[in-house]
Amino acid sequence: MNPFIENTSHFHPLYSRTVHRSHHDSSYFIHVLLFYCLHGIITIIALYNITQLGDPTAFGNLPPCPVALEAIESALHAKGHAAGYVNACGIPQARNAIAQFHNPNNKNANKASSSSAPADGAALSDHVVIANGCSGALELALTAILDPGSILLVPQPGFPLYQVIAESHGASVVHYRLLPDQNWECDLQHLEALVKEYHTQVVYDDGDETQTPVIRGILVNNPSNPTGGVFSRKHLEDLVQFAKKYQLPIVADEVYGDLVFRSNTFHPLANVADSLGREVPVITASGLAKQYLVPGWRVGWIVFQDK
Ligand SMILES: Cc1ncc(COP(=O)(O)O)c(C=O)c1O
Repeated sequence: MNPFIENTSHFHPLYSRTVHRSHHDSSYFIHVLLFYCLHGIITIIALYNITQLGDPTAFGNLPPCPVALEAIESALHAKGHAAGYVNACGIPQARNAIAQFHNPNNKNANKASSSSAPADGAALSDHVVIANGCSGALELALTAILDPGSILLVPQPGFPLYQVIAESHGASVVHYRLLPDQNWECDLQHLEALVKEYHTQVVYDDGDETQTPVIRGILVNNPSNPTGGVFSRKHLEDLVQFAKKYQLPIVADEVYGDLVFRSNTFHPLANVADSLGREVPVITASGLAKQYLVPGWRVGWIVFQDK
């Protein structure tokens, strides 16, 4: 639409009706001026939002979780070794707390105490590595499974960091579709087609033909950024069965875990895999950023679950 065209009829978005104006009409200039001013303001707000992407604290209306503030304050003033070097995987108390939080038998994960050890059969603290935010956790997980030339299956639409990390290792990503008409679930048929297309490459070694897996894993992001989709338990079971069929590990990005509206329930993928016999290795990546509203603290972790 060009608002300067003389004596034509315009559908003006500000007024939602068709107006007939000429550029000699002074009120018409005021309308045009208003229209462009509003456009400018909306653009500035949009750009500001883009620079704050994914930061729940950006506008100051969601302050850090008080529990997290209290814990950090008491740690800062604690006597002993609080300010010293620690194990590169994290201090035992924190790793225990995370292990218990992710324990499939822990019905009350959010109330996990930092001092208690995980119950038998739970994710052991040895399986937890603390990282520089969930981004650092993803970097650790993907570095472990990707080699140059290998492939990671990632959701589309999805968080772009997966591709950045994969490509930094000379690996690449292949996108599987999410289905907008089915609550943004993963398109299992598309996943199956991709696995058949890319999964194995034939390597000739002294005349022998061997098959080498090229796809090293599936990245599942639940709850999802950017779709907001929350997967049902049934869908997660289907994903685990699919991964089992093709012997693929799953990297579960659950940084938005538990951040769901009441009509939804968040099911940690590792718990689903646990209830199906732990036949699929699951590496869960998560962190404090979103649930505790402290993205700048850069605290994340991975939890490994295998047989
Ligand atoms: C899906 C997803 N995964 C991981 C991250 C990274 O989280 P962190 O800030 O803990 O590095 C984000 C951040 O926006 C995200 O949206």
